[in-house]
Amino acid sequence: MTSAHYQERRGQLQTYFDRTAVEAWARLTSTAPVSRIRATVRAGRDRMRNTLLGYLPADLNAKTLLDAGCGTGALSVEAAVRGAQVTAVDLSPTLVMLAGQRLPTSLGTGRIDFRVGDMFDSALGAFDHVVAMDSLIHYAVGDVVQVLAGFSARANRSIIFTFAPKTPLLTLMWCAGRLFPRRDRAPAIEPLSERALRHRLALEPALAGWRVGRTQRIASGFYTSQAMELVKQ
Ligand SMILES: C[S@@+](CC[C@H](N)C(=O)[O-])C[C@H]1O[C@@H](n2cnc3c(N)ncnc32)[C@H](O)[C@@H]1O
Repeated sequence: MTSAHYQERRGQLQTYFDRTAVEAWARLTSTAPVSRIRATVRAGRDRMRNTLLGYLPADLNAKTLLDAGCGTGALSVEAAVRGAQVTAVDLSPTLVMLAGQRLPTSLGTGRIDFRVGDMFDSALGAFDHVVAMDSLIHYAVGDVVQVLAGFSARANRSIIFTFAPKTPLLTLMWCAGRLFPRRDRAPAIEPLSERALRHRLALEPALAGWRVGRTQRIASGFYTSQAMELVKQ
């Protein structure tokens, strides 16, 4: 069961990523020219994707992976090229369609099964690894921990995710964002303090058999996000 806040935020994110921002998102995740500001975001996201992919075993042959909130599918493709059997799920049917159109002609032994839906859905099955790149950054800490607890019941080895670290700049941007009328702005990013997040993870009973592994903050112009790995003990 997810919270009312989670469900409300999920609805806002679906509208945002499937309608309001779909063209900007399609462009940002392509190789088409973008503004200097967006180029810093693209560069940061490329570094983040490589970081998360680096947390996975080099040989992904026959390994199963959930790309939770796959967007236009770049991470799924790179994992599949390394042999992974990927299930890629996203709330936005338009982004999932775009991901399908962007598939390279060959994935070698890898495979991607695209789905439209909620990453929290247990019917997606169980996986060796779950990766959620920037798809939890809009949820409140309680909801993030609940989603991770849900993943822990379905992941055999690791859960790799990102969160928006609470930095003075992000806090300032968060406050500034609240000055704009709701219809004009993206669903707010929820900055989390690493200390508070670790504390909440340690208190979550479902994560008792898991430990925090590697973590890395990536800052590139207007992009700041932090990778974190949960490893099954
Ligand atoms: C910032 S984008 C990142 C997309 C992709 N992971 C990437 O890095 O390119 C966040 C994505 O998470 C998806 N998302 C958010 N909440 C979700 C949920 N509960 N279930 C599935 N997808 C979700 C959004 O639709 C959006 O495509």
